[in-house]
Amino acid sequence: MFNEKIPEKISKALNFNHFSKKLLQWYPENKRDLPWRNTQNPYIIWLSEIILQQTRVAQGLPYFQKFIENYPNVEDLAASPQEEILRLWQGLGYYSRARNLHKCAKQVVENHSGQFPRDYKNLLKLQGIGQYTAAAIASFAFKEKVAVVDGNVFRVLSRYFGIETDISSNEGKKVFQALANKAISSEHPDEYNQAIMEFGALQCTPKKADCNNCPLQAGCYAYNNNAVEKLPVKKNKVKISTRAFLYYDIECKGKTITKTRGPKDIWEGLTDFPLEEFQSPEKIDPEESKLFHELQAFKPTIHFESEKTYKHILTHQKIFSNFVSFKISSDYEKALEDWAEHKGFLLRDPEELEALGKPKLIVRYLNDKK
Ligand code: ADE
Repeated sequence: MFNEKIPEKISKALNFNHFSKKLLQWYPENKRDLPWRNTQNPYIIWLSEIILQQTRVAQGLPYFQKFIENYPNVEDLAASPQEEILRLWQGLGYYSRARNLHKCAKQVVENHSGQFPRDYKNLLKLQGIGQYTAAAIASFAFKEKVAVVDGNVFRVLSRYFGIETDISSNEGKKVFQALANKAISSEHPDEYNQAIMEFGALQCTPKKADCNNCPLQAGCYAYNNNAVEKLPVKKNKVKISTRAFLYYDIECKGKTITKTRGPKDIWEGLTDFPLEEFQSPEKIDPEESKLFHELQAFKPTIHFESEKTYKHILTHQKIFSNFVSFKISSDYEKALEDWAEHKGFLLRDPEELEALGKPKLIVRYLNDKK
């Protein structure tokens, strides 16, 4: 059913059997021994795949281990308070993934008696499970023949088969999904999916692909046409905006004013400090900030003003932050509490702040301050 989406020159000439056979030979000899590979437990597979989205294996592995230790099964995860999950997730970024993880666990427990659905179509209905994750779980746990397509797969397929369709376009997504569905092994869809991803991660890498030792070299379009560096084609580079924050670290009687971030911006549900946003990093200036002037009512002493600008890069945003740290005398405790409440802020003691999930930027600042 996908044939018409594959350019004709390719679909005619392709030797899918050769391609998948070579990958299946390569995989057992070269694969990394990763904990989610020695199981067919859909909970473990799901958890690993959510953690590994947008995250390298080396970075994701300790998080995976922490989550499995704290939540050995889906019931434990569903029953956890969300703050605890966000705290464990701290540092991984893309926090909506952690919130969806929790929602999905609850769906599985409440609507499916704690058992993950066993097929691609029904897995797709769960929170935070898109085509890639549904295909990964359906194939790894239940051996359904459905192909995964992630960044590694785009790269391997585009190079080997010489597909120049833009991978960020809808057309590209269809072409590559169609191709992947053709190439997947009927007998070993699970091994094949793991193999093509691992091949992209270890052999057919974005830079310095190891073409000299590649078992697919002879049939590889890119190798034979000097196009390894040119493929895959990705036109729609995301526009990155720059944001400038001035954070206020305000302490009174050992407590710090915090803010739980709301929806419609980055870091929903995480805890940070009151902040004022400026048009650009060069324009950050406490004297120009409303909060700075409001806080003068409590006669603050500047305790610490970070000379460092903390930089944090997200997929769509580059964030530059400076910090001002104020100490406020206990004489103003009540007035400060009233002000904080009015602003939607909350005073928290250090243990509470430590236990909450915070953006990496805030963690870095707090560590520097120690
Ligand atoms: N990245 C995403 N899923 C993966 C998996 N199952 N193994 C290794 N790397 C991955």
